[in-house]
Amino acid sequence: MAGRTVIISGGGTGIGLATARAFARDGDTSVLIGRRAEVVERAAASVGNAVALPADLTDPAEAARVARFVAERFGTVDVLVHSAGGSGLLEPRPDDADDADDTGDPLAAAAHHWTVAFRINTLTAVLLTEALRDRLASPGGRVLFLSSIAAYRGSGSGAYAASKAALHPYAFDLARALGPRGVTVNVVAPGYIEETEFFGPAMPPERREARVAETLNARAGTPGDVAETLRWLASHAASHITSQTIQVNGGAERGH
Ligand SMILES: NC(=O)c1ccc[n+]([C@@H]2O[C@H](COP(=O)([O-])OP(=O)(O)OC[C@H]3O[C@@H](n4cnc5c(N)ncnc54)[C@H](OP(=O)(O)O)[C@@H]3O)[C@@H](O)[C@H]2O)c1
Repeated sequence: MAGRTVIISGGGTGIGLATARAFARDGDTSVLIGRRAEVVERAAASVGNAVALPADLTDPAEAARVARFVAERFGTVDVLVHSAGGSGLLEPRPDDADDADDTGDPLAAAAHHWTVAFRINTLTAVLLTEALRDRLASPGGRVLFLSSIAAYRGSGSGAYAASKAALHPYAFDLARALGPRGVTVNVVAPGYIEETEFFGPAMPPERREARVAETLNARAGTPGDVAETLRWLASHAASHITSQTIQVNGGAERGH
């Protein structure tokens, strides 16, 4: 199955970048999508077998532009990995946000937080899927969503968790629709994964220790842990696995 075309949203950093590296070892070519051009360009250069495609996938016109690029350059998509996302807490506030948080209006702040979470985690995946679904290799195509342990047990405010949980029924409906074409659709839900940009520039040591203590194998997850799960789900060996959610968290969701 070498020489496949792999589209990876959020491919410039963390789990998405590790996934591109894993596919490159198999001789596959990845298209790395992210908003920061310099980040995806640097990532593509480091991977080798990869192309940078800067785009903001919350914008339907940008998703359409990505689809046109993929159509012209590759024609068919073998694997689609949705790694774009985040807590939303580190997102820059838009100019037109009226400084809702600053006015102390808790409802305006909640509206902003929930809207951002659904835009970056749910909408990015839905728009890219809808833009590319007719290009998925049939049979053999793979669609892989990144959810989170938060979808099972909350995330504090609930916004991030809900925006990830929303991907599950979307993936199941998609698996039903694309199954007859020989395309599988699955969801991978990681626990705490370090060496990503998810938690910002620095994770406080006590917070890291608390996350590690939740696992049954007493370690943090790595981007490679998730990348190898995605790589396996994209392989021929996993061709009878579809409409499933697989947790990669060292047992943290079950707990001690
Ligand atoms: N790290 C963890 O512990 C953890 C745990 C569970 C689930 N996850 C999930 O795993 C996925 C990968 O996260 P990560 O840990 O690898 O963190 P990360 O390094 O922050 O990666 C997220 C990527 O998404 C891109 N992105 C965000 N918004 C985008 C948009 N509108 N359009 C295009 N690209 C966008 C970011 O690049 P730009 O900012 O340049 O756009 C970034 O490269 C995320 O969906 C995250 O929610 C992570």
